[in-house]
Amino acid sequence: MRVQIAAANWKMNLTVREAEKLLEVLLGESYELTENQKVVFAVPAPYLTIAEEKIAKHSQMFIAAQNVYSKKSGAYTGEVSVTMLQSIGVDHVIIGHSERREYFGETDELIAGKVNICLETNITSIFCCGEALPVREVNQQNSYVSHQLEESLFYLPAEQIVKVVIAYEPIWAIGTGKTASSEQVQEMHAFIRSQIEKRYGIEEAQSISILYGGSVKAANAKEIFSQPDVDGGLVGGASLIAEEFIAIIKALKV
Ligand code: PGA
Repeated sequence: MRVQIAAANWKMNLTVREAEKLLEVLLGESYELTENQKVVFAVPAPYLTIAEEKIAKHSQMFIAAQNVYSKKSGAYTGEVSVTMLQSIGVDHVIIGHSERREYFGETDELIAGKVNICLETNITSIFCCGEALPVREVNQQNSYVSHQLEESLFYLPAEQIVKVVIAYEPIWAIGTGKTASSEQVQEMHAFIRSQIEKRYGIEEAQSISILYGGSVKAANAKEIFSQPDVDGGLVGGASLIAEEFIAIIKALKV
């Protein structure tokens, strides 16, 4: 059974007090997570240490950075390295989110470099892919996503690709309130899995968690997560509201 993951992506939101309060409420709830389920909080960089301390006693909870640079150290003002993340116990990072691709010009090549450096340091990448609306409108989403996978992931050997988590996030559904239908989600997740199978084999394809992201909320999480190829979600807006994210965690497949 693949690991089922509820990942919160707080993006550039919350003050430190608000962040602490939100985590306290979320951690105060009892979830009865199975060994197969985990919860990841991708918090803003200045809160990584605080968040890490708060979740320390919760065995199935993890903290993620929302970004990392592709070099280990050096004169890269403003950037955060995997070595830094590792030194404070952060073991997950979101890589290649569409907002980073769009607003910060991240290329497939840079993203591949980030995936590589995470693998070298045993940090789990949550690799984001997904098409914009014009691509979906001309029904080119499969070739678009397949190209993203080819360029930034499929050069990896089998023993490394299985350590990556993939998040399919159609850009037209991010922060828009417009969720992809559960059929559209299942169709793309099955496609991504079939591409992994074609390149690597059935065992690899069956072991990689593929999350869906794009306006996931309490009201639709259960239906989306119940799709056979969906292994949880990467949640933006709804992860900032305690009751919403609690319900989303509880909607994970067991
Ligand atoms: P959203 O964001 O849930 O607010 O649509 C998802 C994401 O960008 O990861």
